[in-house]
Amino acid sequence: AAVLALWGLVGYLLGSIPFGMVLAHVMGLGNLRQIGSGNIGATNVLRTGNKTAAALTLLLDGGKGAAAVLLARSMGGEDTAQIAGLMAMLGHCYPIWLRFAGGKGVATFLGIVLALSFPVGVGCCIAWLIGALLTRISSMGALFAAAASTFLMLLLGASDALILGALLTLIIFWRHKTNIARIRAGTEPKIGQKT
Ligand code: G3P
Repeated sequence: AAVLALWGLVGYLLGSIPFGMVLAHVMGLGNLRQIGSGNIGATNVLRTGNKTAAALTLLLDGGKGAAAVLLARSMGGEDTAQIAGLMAMLGHCYPIWLRFAGGKGVATFLGIVLALSFPVGVGCCIAWLIGALLTRISSMGALFAAAASTFLMLLLGASDALILGALLTLIIFWRHKTNIARIRAGTEPKIGQKT
């Protein structure tokens, strides 16, 4: 139990690093809270017009999720890896440094799932691409990927991660409440669109 708690904490702390905010600040792109959706993720960093910063945000936010899972797995095995993954997701969405007002967890989710089960992770990335290419809306990609994850876990023999997959999916849908409302109203911006 001590090992689980320790790796849960490490996962949370890793996940809570708001790379998008840090990069936007360091690269002089302004305060993400005052740009686009106000979110701290790669999609909103792209609204600054800086593609490099957006790509780096995607990679680092994904990387911290993957790192949490892989490190915890190497030290404590599969259960520890799952706890660290869940806690990294919670760290990203509810970071103590931003008074628990964090991101929507999409990149971090993809990193976690890639590390948990590479085929499922690749499938989720493809689902994101399909959703995003069909609609040109980033949050649609996110909802596609999240919705696909549990099915892909069943299909690709990763059913030991089903509960975690369902929790991550719920967190993503919950964090996209305002996006879902905008999608329904037809006002959700397309990828790269400034407002
Ligand atoms: O990565 C989050 C994405 O799905 C939506 O971001 O900024 O359009 O709310 P945003």
